[in-house]
Amino acid sequence: MDALTHAIEAYVSTAATPITDAVAIKAIELIEQYLRIAVKDGTNIEAREQMAYAQFMAGMAFNNASLGYVHAMAHQLGGFYDLPHGVCNAVLLPHVQRFNVKVAPQRLADVAKAMGVNIKGLSAEEGANAALGAIVQLSKDVGIPDGLAQLGVKECDFSILAENALKDVCGFTNPI
Ligand SMILES: [Fe+2]
Repeated sequence: MDALTHAIEAYVSTAATPITDAVAIKAIELIEQYLRIAVKDGTNIEAREQMAYAQFMAGMAFNNASLGYVHAMAHQLGGFYDLPHGVCNAVLLPHVQRFNVKVAPQRLADVAKAMGVNIKGLSAEEGANAALGAIVQLSKDVGIPDGLAQLGVKECDFSILAENALKDVCGFTNPI
């Protein structure tokens, strides 16, 4: 889910290029296709190999296009509560992308298509909303918790977490 977040944040980043777009979309396609299989059966070498390619391409995408508010916020949760990075990203990913729909609907519709959604006939906004659904479904399928409360995150810490998240360099390339 960290790799998926790298790919999606790079794809909607203000620093995205045709090169990062290509590797981000391919990474998303492979993750959609192979992550469930790899999680269900860790001995499935084909699924793990394809996930290795996916995470590498997602890495190429974000090392050039940087990231966004998912990572800016997840870094605070990791540092503050010692929570696992990928799980924090997975929980935050659909919420941040919902925030991004208003400025990057077509980009998120592309994400939906890469995640196997038939977006033919849908508006960009409808396609973007379908991407949010596909992200939530994939998270569910691989056992990601529903929200921050399940991870022990406390509401009284929100202001310090938010203040620090806004100082995180990853936020600078979020589309809003
Ligand atoms: Fe990450």
